[in-house]
Amino acid sequence: MDSGEWCVEKRGSFRNESFRDNDNVPETGCLSIIVLGASGDLAKKKTFPALFNLYRQGFLQSNEVHIFGYARSKISNNDLKERISGYLSQGKENAEEVSDFLQLIEYISGGYDSEEGFQTLDKAIYEHEISRNSTEGSARRLFYLALPPSVYPPVCRMIKSYCMNKSDLGGWTRIVVEKPFGKDLASSEELSAQIGELFDEPQIYRIDHYLGKELVQNLLVLRFANRFFLPLWNRDNIANVQIVFREDFGTDGRGGYFDEYGIIRDIIQNHLLQVFCLVAMEKPISLKPEHIRDEKVKVLQSVVPIKDEEVILGQYEGYRDDPTVPDNSNTPTFATMVLRIHNERWEGVPFILKAGKALNSRKAEIRVQFKDVPGDIFKCKKRGRNEFVIRLQPSEAMYMKLMVKQPGLEMSTAQSELDLSYRQRYQGVTIPEAYERLILDTIRGDQQHFVRRDELKVAWEIFTPLLHRIDDGELKPIPYKAGSRGPVEADDLLRKAGYVQTHGYIWIPPTL
Ligand code: BG6
Repeated sequence: MDSGEWCVEKRGSFRNESFRDNDNVPETGCLSIIVLGASGDLAKKKTFPALFNLYRQGFLQSNEVHIFGYARSKISNNDLKERISGYLSQGKENAEEVSDFLQLIEYISGGYDSEEGFQTLDKAIYEHEISRNSTEGSARRLFYLALPPSVYPPVCRMIKSYCMNKSDLGGWTRIVVEKPFGKDLASSEELSAQIGELFDEPQIYRIDHYLGKELVQNLLVLRFANRFFLPLWNRDNIANVQIVFREDFGTDGRGGYFDEYGIIRDIIQNHLLQVFCLVAMEKPISLKPEHIRDEKVKVLQSVVPIKDEEVILGQYEGYRDDPTVPDNSNTPTFATMVLRIHNERWEGVPFILKAGKALNSRKAEIRVQFKDVPGDIFKCKKRGRNEFVIRLQPSEAMYMKLMVKQPGLEMSTAQSELDLSYRQRYQGVTIPEAYERLILDTIRGDQQHFVRRDELKVAWEIFTPLLHRIDDGELKPIPYKAGSRGPVEADDLLRKAGYVQTHGYIWIPPTL
């Protein structure tokens, strides 16, 4: 199938009939995008810039789209536009586009449980729909909740009661929600039940922005469209898999939020676990979103309970200096843990998930390490193992570390790599921001890259026992220096799990 066909299918028939959110789902016509929490950080830094990029690429047409910002702050339309405009890529060349885009935005102030506020919002949306001569069934309403989850239930109730296209124009209504979806299994299930009473699953888009990253989106293609990998991707050949997230800055003014959640809820239970699913799941029977998500759920269900001795927690020194963090905080800012999958493909292969703040570098990658070559006539073992590395960020790349003859007269071996660095290979191609892609998916009604309710539930089942033991103070983080690799105990755990580090080999991203 060529890429053109793929796109056509993606927009249309990939959607599973039983998960359609409306029998008559229009994908064109008047579109209202309502950003709730419009004056907040997420909206300013991610949502509006993503909308702007979609607009400038022609995915949002000014004759169809109107954007409503809604928040409690009593600010004017212009105040909101001023706040946003600094985050839209601006240069002389696109000043006009920025100004045209800002024209599409209308700000409405109101409380998150205010009937009056949501009635005013509904009226404004309806007026816009009428002004665009919308025909019956063609009005599309996308509500983006850039809000703390505590207000999801009242906001969803308000949307359901007052903004659900009761008019003759009724097309579809979709709701986009952001993590954290709860703090553990019970709270997440409660939240899901509250939202689930109001909206059907196909109307709910749970964003995990890692699913919008270019190389995360590439994982299924890599795995299932390449003959190379088919026979190798299993316990017979793979020694261990690492999924790593590192940041070289601390909680940076978000200490209050972070301390409530910690690194496992902030990064591992969602972002890294989603990547884990795509690396470990079986081949779906088709590319329909429900088929893909079914496989993700299955592999999550095969994860065995995490053992205490396979978890190392850390907290960077200085974390508690943040005035919003309690002096006795037990919250981990670093964690390394081993997930084990009880199935035919992966029995015995450790999946090491590692995430940390205030470390010595910033990167996210998947590192698949292969077993040693049997009958090692070249004595390669001491030089290091084959690895396949997928660098999610920065400098998107995939490279395969392999053994070659050292060029020259001597017959000696050396580690080298086959390197597919995106910046070099795809010059001139702009890699879209994760949010851009995901918002476009919500408009098109494609739920493939969103987390389904049952998937979320199993994800919490895996981590809740561990999280409760940390919350109760039974497991304590080890202090580590900001700017370091994290606690040395984490490297010991890696070794125990069977990871063999290659000393003296460093992959250097090519420069143009
Ligand atoms: C967010 C976390 O979900 O992801 C942040 O809350 C983290 O703590 C961020 O910094 C990382 O995202 P990215 O895309 O910069 O890797």
